[in-house]
Amino acid sequence: MKGLLITLEGIDGSGKSTAAKQIASRLAELMPERRLVLTAEPTTGQVGKILRAELARASSIETRPPAAKQMQELFLFMADHAHHLTKTVLPALETGAIVLSDRYADSTAAYQGVTLRGIVPDPVHWIQSIYRPWNLLPDRTLLFVLDPHAALQRMQSRRGRQKFERLEFLRLVDENFRRLAALEPERFVQIDAEQDAKKVAEEAIKAILNVIYK
Ligand code: TYD
Repeated sequence: MKGLLITLEGIDGSGKSTAAKQIASRLAELMPERRLVLTAEPTTGQVGKILRAELARASSIETRPPAAKQMQELFLFMADHAHHLTKTVLPALETGAIVLSDRYADSTAAYQGVTLRGIVPDPVHWIQSIYRPWNLLPDRTLLFVLDPHAALQRMQSRRGRQKFERLEFLRLVDENFRRLAALEPERFVQIDAEQDAKKVAEEAIKAILNVIYK
């Protein structure tokens, strides 16, 4: 049986992590015989740990970090993605599993596509060109679309807000995600994340079943 890679993308607060858990348990009910791997980026591996520590530290710094710092962050995300691909995603797909990843390489294009503005020309395109020779494209990418203002409001209650959660920043990330979706309309399915959590999960599951039974 052929493995299937489904990725979930969206700005912080778009509800994709909540949906991921609901999708995973519903798929397990519908297809008890099929192996399902729920995974995420940044990972919990060594590079992922370094990344999270860096991100937590960066949240308290207001000034724009130097270009070299932004590059360090980009390559940490890329290294984490490479690690995730080789250690988790590819082996799971080999066994015929459905792999559900909460964030993947599109997050790097969308987020670091913002942090690298003014450092490299057209950073979204540049990041994609670095990934292209070695990345595995998902079979389907569900993009959870929510107005950044609403997303921020949802996050007000969360502790320890990170630097990636500021409104202006999220607006630019949102633009990048929409641009990525427009570039590959066959791969991306846009989910209206403004709806209540149950509806969002239902829509996501429907989109995934469409890929499984196509
Ligand atoms: P995530 O774990 O999804 O957020 P949370 O800890 O709130 O569940 O991701 C952490 C942050 O890292 C998030 O703001 C998005 C950002 N990110 C990037 O900037 N680039 C990337 O390639 C990835 C995977 C995440």
